[in-house]
Amino acid sequence: MKKTNVLILFSLLLWGCSQSKNNVEARIDDLLSKMTLKEKIGQMNQLTGTGLSTDMTDCIRSGEVGSILNEVDVKTVNELQRIAVEESRLGIPLIFARDVIHGYKTIFPIPLGQAASWNKELVEEGARIAAKEATSVGIRWTFAPMVDVTRDPRWGRIAESCGEDPYLTSVMGAAMVKGFQGNDLSEPRSMGACAKHFAGYGAAESGKDYNTTWIPEIQLRETFLPPFKAALDAGVASFMCSFNDINGVPSSGNEFLNKQILRNEWKYDGLLVSDWASIQQMISHGVCSDLKDAAKKAANACVDMDMMGFAYISHLEELVKSGEISEKQIDEAVRNILRMKFRLGLFDQPYTKEDTTVFYATESLEKAKQAAIEGTILLKNDNNLLPLNDKIKSVAVIGPLSDAPSDQLGTWVFDGEPERSITPLQAIKDTYGSKLKIIAEKGLNYSREISEDGIKKSVEAAKKSDVVLLFVGEEAILSGEAHCRADISLPGAQSKLLSELKKTGKPVVLIVMAGRPLTIEKEVNQADGVLYAFHGGTMAGPALIDLIFGKAVPSGKLPITIPRMVGQIPIYYSHKMTGRPAENICLIDNIPVGAPQTSLGNTSFHLDAGDSPLFPFGYGLSYTTFEYSKPTLSKNTISEGDSIIVECSIKNTGKLDGKEVVQLYVRDLVGSLARPIRELKGFEKIFIKAGETKKVSFTLKPKYLAFWIADMTKKAEPGKFEVWISNDSQTGVPVKFELK
Ligand code: BGC
Repeated sequence: MKKTNVLILFSLLLWGCSQSKNNVEARIDDLLSKMTLKEKIGQMNQLTGTGLSTDMTDCIRSGEVGSILNEVDVKTVNELQRIAVEESRLGIPLIFARDVIHGYKTIFPIPLGQAASWNKELVEEGARIAAKEATSVGIRWTFAPMVDVTRDPRWGRIAESCGEDPYLTSVMGAAMVKGFQGNDLSEPRSMGACAKHFAGYGAAESGKDYNTTWIPEIQLRETFLPPFKAALDAGVASFMCSFNDINGVPSSGNEFLNKQILRNEWKYDGLLVSDWASIQQMISHGVCSDLKDAAKKAANACVDMDMMGFAYISHLEELVKSGEISEKQIDEAVRNILRMKFRLGLFDQPYTKEDTTVFYATESLEKAKQAAIEGTILLKNDNNLLPLNDKIKSVAVIGPLSDAPSDQLGTWVFDGEPERSITPLQAIKDTYGSKLKIIAEKGLNYSREISEDGIKKSVEAAKKSDVVLLFVGEEAILSGEAHCRADISLPGAQSKLLSELKKTGKPVVLIVMAGRPLTIEKEVNQADGVLYAFHGGTMAGPALIDLIFGKAVPSGKLPITIPRMVGQIPIYYSHKMTGRPAENICLIDNIPVGAPQTSLGNTSFHLDAGDSPLFPFGYGLSYTTFEYSKPTLSKNTISEGDSIIVECSIKNTGKLDGKEVVQLYVRDLVGSLARPIRELKGFEKIFIKAGETKKVSFTLKPKYLAFWIADMTKKAEPGKFEVWISNDSQTGVPVKFELK
């Protein structure tokens, strides 16, 4: 096509977009002009489903509700929608919402496990499948992705996060948004996504859910906000407030966050919904005297919709009448809500065509399995025990997670069905039942069990087998919302179970299925091989068995640091250097009795844990090996408007084909503020055949080097930098360049 034709086409497209935008805004104006104040406030009210109860149907008829969550019976959904469209005065459709977090029926790995794949295309496909399944029963709005960065594995919701890093979370969050929303939000199989929880929720003190946070603005902007901005740039349809207060101000009443940043700086014109009763909870926070006060604070802080808080529906009308809230403010909120309804195409196509044939489609199950494979991390593989080879004739399948259909689904699976889960035990029987002697002996019935009664039998099973596959971890109920732990070691008698099995002298492969990183240093030392699987979803079993027997090669990398001990938390790769970086580490058992105070060198480490994690961010082994060349730079200096190409060759030096996650890190050597010792700035997951070499290149631009400085502007400061291309956050050879 000629250049001029392309230009004309592009201009036509732009014109078309702005026309349809104008059209939507005109339709919103028209509706608003017809709405009573009561009807406007009704749109701002979100209720949980109560079927076809009279309370609910009356509310809909009289226009007192704008959205319903947790209604998943499609016939009920359509009937409620019919009442809204045909029997309410203005016929405004409802939006039906649900927490579709890592799958609707076909459950994918928990988000932390999906992030461990570092495969954004796969993550996007997972969200697309979730959207196809969920929209088939009428859910057009999901409360996902959760893009809260967190560095605290005690926090139960770490399971729902993409880990500790703002960049990785941004990429994964944006991929989920694209997957949920598809190419066209108005298409009936697309679902509006929701970037939550805005903001800082992952910084809850002591990893205790809903707890207070203290976040300096610089850290807020540098660490916690970028994934939200990335979700916005990906076109996310909605945002949700977080429960926590930041520096004393709960998010649902936080004008700085919601007005200054979200609306004014980022120009967000979508819907901001509160979290469940989070407006009401400003009373418990102790910042509002009563529900009316809470309604006023939330409305002033630009929160458009009140999820199950009953503050808006009960008090906004009197607040407008008394002049404490202007009707203009209400109109703004209603505009945002209606805009989302228009964007979802609900005015044109309010009803759902029931189609449950999309549940558990073969391709969806295959993708879920692929996600579970790529989201599993090989942490240790002594003597190349894995993959198991033909010499293995008998296998003991042990551990509370070896056959726990419900637990392998993980947290937040309202609609997942354990009876559709394929467990590791089932999978090994299905695939190798006729070839291998499989002795299954759980040892412990569930992860917290402290009774050691079953251990003896599992030891007997181990003695009769060539290898032990020990599936340990956490039940699903030990992670997720409000499921935080202060001790994140293996619960119950699982560690004891491992020690007893180890005594048999049989090689032990430890497979950890958990909602968070666990402190398993002792267990890792004991095991011969370790796979960290998180909660892998419906297809966790077949995925793990393929990995164990080598039908699949591990390629997952840690999206979060694994600490040695809970007392190291927060421990994350991108920390600051300190004035006395750790050196000459002398651990507690090596301190001579009576040693003088200054004999330990006075550097930054813990006497009992040293200064390193058990496994760093970005870490993960493969069954093959990759050799990285020293990165080369296209030039050694850059200036504004310029870029540098950083390039590296990666050779698969092993005998198997495999995928590798190639990671790009940068360090600003001297800044006006202390800078992290490394920051992830890019990554690529590539497939390399055995013996083959592939080149990977990244483009570095000055804007990637920018950071928030003391005067709250974001700038890249001239000076020297180091760049790495490496296979985790601790290895690699740095190369220097300068920003002029
Ligand atoms: C959670 C949200 C969730 C909402 C609706 C709240 O308790 O914090 O993440 O979307 O409930 O279920």
